[in-house]
Amino acid sequence: MTKGWTKSDWRAKPRIQMPDYPDHEALTAVEAQLAKYPPLVFAGEARRLKKQLAAAAEGRAFLLQGGDCAESFSEFSADNIRDTFRVLLQMAVVLTYGAKVPVIKVGRMAGQFAKPRSAPTEVIGGVEYPSYRGDIINGFDATVEARRPDPQRMLQAYTQAAASLNLLRAFSTGGFADINRVHSWTLGFAEHDKAERYRELSNRISDALDFMAAAGVTADTANELSRVDFYTSHEALLLEYEEALCRVDSISGQPVAGSGHMIWIGDRTRQPDGAHVEFCRGVLNPIGLKCGPTTTADDLKVLMAKLNPENEPGRLTLIARFGAGKVGEHLPRLVKAVREEGANVVWSCDPMHGNTIKSSSGYKTRPFDSVLREVREFFAIHKAEGTVPGGVHFEMTGKDVTECTGGLRAVTDEDLSDRYHTACDPRLNASQSLELAFLVAEELTQLRDGARRIAL
Ligand code: PEP
Ligand code: CO
Repeated sequence: MTKGWTKSDWRAKPRIQMPDYPDHEALTAVEAQLAKYPPLVFAGEARRLKKQLAAAAEGRAFLLQGGDCAESFSEFSADNIRDTFRVLLQMAVVLTYGAKVPVIKVGRMAGQFAKPRSAPTEVIGGVEYPSYRGDIINGFDATVEARRPDPQRMLQAYTQAAASLNLLRAFSTGGFADINRVHSWTLGFAEHDKAERYRELSNRISDALDFMAAAGVTADTANELSRVDFYTSHEALLLEYEEALCRVDSISGQPVAGSGHMIWIGDRTRQPDGAHVEFCRGVLNPIGLKCGPTTTADDLKVLMAKLNPENEPGRLTLIARFGAGKVGEHLPRLVKAVREEGANVVWSCDPMHGNTIKSSSGYKTRPFDSVLREVREFFAIHKAEGTVPGGVHFEMTGKDVTECTGGLRAVTDEDLSDRYHTACDPRLNASQSLELAFLVAEELTQLRDGARRIAL
């Protein structure tokens, strides 16, 4: 892809948000070991995702990207993976129904371990410790020992990612995702208020499937109905891990990140001359770029030229994360920059990271109203600009956690302590995720109806 690029070039660039490993020998040994392991994903898969994202850029598909803020070693279980996958499938069904276009399903899963932090240290119980940077780097416990960066953790993260992917691949193709099971995905959500609306929708889908079966189209004859494409993604933050899993595609000879199908660059590490942009520009995978309130039009132009010099459709997804009430202030200048460059991009909305606050009870939370409001603002700006809202990016779990306040089954500030399990940022629970999907589906329906009216 990029002539003269090598997977180690990032090492000559300013590195931020990465650990200084005290034991260099141990680090080198782990890197050598990982470099011998099989890649977790393959170039052909990354290329297929890129093709689907190219459709999303034009409004012919929609990107649904979600999962944990930070995966953790202690919360790793088959049930957790199944529950997150199930909620993503439910959301995808709601969105497909509303948008009438294919929904591209991408999990923040099987590799989302490393976290950027706002400060290098944090004070816990009056004692200052190095910040927790995600399980792939150090431990969550408040001890000096746990907080020391340990390269062995990369091997555990790799193993966990491989096992997660194995299960996800089985779920995607082995019958769990068969559209005929749309009703059974509601199991476990019977008590949720959104369940009624979801059930109504799955009844309508069942009707359509009955009709198609009568016409001779079934999951047996149409493979697409019994399986889904499911992709993985994470922030490419820990570049030692990314480099060790970088491979050369045997077909095209291009480098590919073998750690996940799509990788993204965070809002804190998107310096055009920094290490993270340097690594990401050289691999063929679809790349996400977080855009925040401090992203200028000039920054964006330079970054687009670096990350997608050939203007390849589906290569670059711009993930806008400004905060409710601020989208109108920031998104238009970036839309203008994209238009001026004639750049092909997917516009995705992350309504989570601009809406984090400290609750009165002391927990880090996100008011669900702000999350929904940012999504509405995102759609409104794209409507006004005549551009395509191509996807959403959010943090969720299939579990019934109480981390974000609000929602139909309102979680209050006081409730936060009940089931607050996140290792990092507050996530939407299953019911809030479904509610978000219904809102996005409504926005997409309006958009489609509007376009149809103009066409008539
Ligand atoms: C994240 O996606 O978890 C994250 C840290 O986002 P951002 O870089 O947008 O703050
Ligand atoms: Co986060």
